[in-house]
Amino acid sequence: MDGVTTAIFLLLLAIICLSLTFTASDKGQLPPGPKPLPILGNLLQLRSQDLLTSLTKLSKEYGSVYTVYLGPRRVVVLSGYQTVKEALVDKGEEFSGRGSYPVFFNFTKGNGLAFSNGDRWKVLRRWSIQILRNFGMGKKSIENQILEESSFLLEVLRNTEGKPFDPVFTLSRSVSNIICSVIFGRRFDYEDDRLLTIITFINDNFKIMSSPWGEMYNIFPNLLDWVPGPHRRLFQNYAGMKDLIARSIREHQDSLDPNSPRDFIDCFLIKMAQEKQDPLSHFQMDTLLMTTHNLLFGGTETVGTTLRHTFLILMKYPKIQARVQEEIDRVVGRSRSPTLEDRVSMPYTDAVIHEAQRFADIVPMNLPHRVIRDTPFRGFLIPKDTDVITLLNTVHYDPSQFKTPKEFNPEHFLDANQSFKKSPAFMPFSAGRRLCLGEPLARMELFLFLSSILQNFTLEPTVKPEDIDLTPISSGLGKVPRPFQLSIRAR
Ligand code: HEM
Repeated sequence: MDGVTTAIFLLLLAIICLSLTFTASDKGQLPPGPKPLPILGNLLQLRSQDLLTSLTKLSKEYGSVYTVYLGPRRVVVLSGYQTVKEALVDKGEEFSGRGSYPVFFNFTKGNGLAFSNGDRWKVLRRWSIQILRNFGMGKKSIENQILEESSFLLEVLRNTEGKPFDPVFTLSRSVSNIICSVIFGRRFDYEDDRLLTIITFINDNFKIMSSPWGEMYNIFPNLLDWVPGPHRRLFQNYAGMKDLIARSIREHQDSLDPNSPRDFIDCFLIKMAQEKQDPLSHFQMDTLLMTTHNLLFGGTETVGTTLRHTFLILMKYPKIQARVQEEIDRVVGRSRSPTLEDRVSMPYTDAVIHEAQRFADIVPMNLPHRVIRDTPFRGFLIPKDTDVITLLNTVHYDPSQFKTPKEFNPEHFLDANQSFKKSPAFMPFSAGRRLCLGEPLARMELFLFLSSILQNFTLEPTVKPEDIDLTPISSGLGKVPRPFQLSIRAR
């Protein structure tokens, strides 16, 4: 056989094997779903809209638990509050694996806190939570740091002198500085190259991952590795981030005092040294690089994006903005900064922030999960190692949980006495064993940054409020708000 005949023969063999795989495994107790084609999987059913819309549509046809093939990969999709909660919370252990996510995997290779599995993930997660707490996450010390950063942010906003500007970088710099201070032991000046590099790379990657290119890469990574397009920038950006983090780790190594760790990196280096003799230790240099990247990425783009969505909402609904300001004036006044202690006395502001997170729904398909053993679920059997997509979007927009899910309505989080009311279907940070590890930090940042800004300024749109479009520009990994300008008026 010549080369071409061999290639054709192998391709046909692959197609036959794949079709056998699809038909054989579909016969068991797998949840129902559209019939897949070899190699392409259900691409035909997914092709015309973005993945979120397509998957949500399929759930209307096949129910809240169904099977779909993203290319050759089998995935079970869960939707609606009750089903997602039963998986992530009631069967938390079974659903605690991390599913395949090529836009990250080709960089992390399954290493680092957010994308590892098994023992390594358990050890890294437990250890990281402890270290982040030691450095003040969820405590007074980090609150002071956020307040200090807010004062720098307010100064930048004041210097705009009412002229319109795009808030992406202004917000990201301040937000990123908080996680930077935990990881690198210091905040950066707003013009510092390292800070600008971090936020530029992260912002660009978040945009690419949320675009159709990012979604397609997740389905056919091997094919797209050969195709030109913006997805290729993902890996250039990763390489740039890796260089920057590696440089910082070297600086830490040169000045490390094992008795007095300054930050997350120091603690990791000390742990690495302690476990040097253990060949099975999870504390290795590459794991440090990847985990640092996970924390920077998680800690920067998510909060920045949520703040941008919230800005747009507050400008579209000026009465809601005015009511938050009225509450800030009444509870905090103008002579001191808002603190976390004020939050319990500010139910309306708290409800607006929760509703903004529900409505903006910035990670609509969650990060992919995986079942770590054969898992009986709602009358089906999900085989071990099957990837699972939990559509957080369908939780946040579940009409059984929210009275007017399609509207921005702070009443979703207020009771009849206008006191703050929790909702079990509030899941922007997901739920269960993989629950976002930065939730306490993110919640502090959202409250302190927003209330400080609104205490000092009114956000004004450059277009009529009714012309503000709250629908995202893309909804892949994240829901990215449409680019906009605003001006800031001192109060
Ligand atoms: C508004 C802000 C944020 C949102 C909406 C958000 C959302 C999420 C979501 C949906 C997940 C996936 C959970 C799952 O797999 O079930 C996640 C995971 C994660 N987040 Fe966040 N996040 C935010 C802020 C942060 C911050 C500030 C940090 C940094 C400290 C962070 C670090 C992480 C990490 C490390 C994971 C992986 C956890 C694991 O796999 O065990 N996030 N986040």
